[in-house]
Amino acid sequence: MIFVTGGCGFIGSNFIIRWMESGLGAVCNLDKLTYAGNAQNLSRFENNKDYTFVKTDINETERISNLFKDLKPKAVIHFAAESHVDRSISGPKAFIETNIVGTFSLLEAAKNYWSKLNEADKNNFRFIHVSTDEVYGSLTEQEDAFSENSNYQPNSPYSASKASSDHLVRSYFHTYGLPTIITNCSNNYGPLQFPEKLIPLIIERALEEKELPIYGDGKNIRDWLHVEDHCDALIAILNKAKPGSKYNIGGINEVQNIEVVKNICELLDTLQPRANKKSYFELKTFVNDRPGHDRRYAIDPKNLQNDIGWKPKYTFTEGLKMTVNWYLQNRHWVHSVKTGEYKNWIQRNYGDRS
Ligand code: NAD
Ligand code: TYD
Repeated sequence: MIFVTGGCGFIGSNFIIRWMESGLGAVCNLDKLTYAGNAQNLSRFENNKDYTFVKTDINETERISNLFKDLKPKAVIHFAAESHVDRSISGPKAFIETNIVGTFSLLEAAKNYWSKLNEADKNNFRFIHVSTDEVYGSLTEQEDAFSENSNYQPNSPYSASKASSDHLVRSYFHTYGLPTIITNCSNNYGPLQFPEKLIPLIIERALEEKELPIYGDGKNIRDWLHVEDHCDALIAILNKAKPGSKYNIGGINEVQNIEVVKNICELLDTLQPRANKKSYFELKTFVNDRPGHDRRYAIDPKNLQNDIGWKPKYTFTEGLKMTVNWYLQNRHWVHSVKTGEYKNWIQRNYGDRS
């Protein structure tokens, strides 16, 4: 049994699907179901005895402590977070409450449980904290990619809250010996991503014949990683990484935003041409820049390759094509998210079941 927090979000859902479909054991998914949590993503496991869903805030320490006592997990994979930079600019409070205070609450519950285990179980326990490359701040085009030793220089309330949580996790290893591992991953893309993030947002707006908003000059660079590669890296880290270690996970895939938008439009031009035969790229619109917009992120994943033997499987060309196809083939999922119908699913399917 492992605990996954935030398992109804984009990466958490993909992780649980990969874990369960690889037959790696039982999962208890702890998720508050914010706007970003979609329990329907995991509906295929509804009657699977190895899958348990608990709707809870990670801040409910007593409840989480009881779950630890009852279910005795061998690991926690901590995804739960507020994750969207733009939302952190307009409303930072939830980011402090979940990303910082929530991580602290979860660490406390994990430490109390872990400290009472026998020596063998103590040694085998892992707390994996899933964090972001955004904690390192922004690179110029000339600077080397982020390494695990890069300074923390967060620039948005989101990245500051994740940086803070990284520090707490690190301190629980050094002070209490809790076997934690921190991972800092670059931008993910793939199936089940909420259409507020760049790639699904552009796909959806293009299909709706709406303007495609590009912040600033469109030359900001992100290092894109397919979500399946991220999930495989986390599973490898869970199996092989030492307590107290920290790994950067990246796609070796630096692309300017304007190129990302162009690539999506070119794929859509082929897969679902517009009625007027023009390219979707003509819908692009340069809009005011995001305040504090980081210019470039790039990850040097060589430690992960050398120590753990992981490297990404998908090129950006392959991964983006798969992703655009997924959004075209899963219109019911998009519809359910856009209409808010996904929020009713839990009541419809679980109803009054305990
Ligand atoms: P997401 O926003 O899609 O999902 C977050 C999930 O956490 C949702 O299911 C939500 O309901 C849940 N949640 C939020 N607050 C909670 C709380 N207080 N208690 C319990 N559950 C709560 O996020 P994502 O894109 O899947 O990201 C997952 C993790 O990976 C985050 O920690 C994020 O910082 C990190 N990360 C994301 C990316 C990326 O590109 N998306 C890249 C690197 C790291
Ligand atoms: P986003 O998907 O929000 O991820 P992050 O901010 O965590 O990197 O944004 C990716 C890049 O795309 C980022 O440089 C901001 C830019 N962007 C746009 O240009 N337009 C948009 O509408 C959005 C949401 C993002």
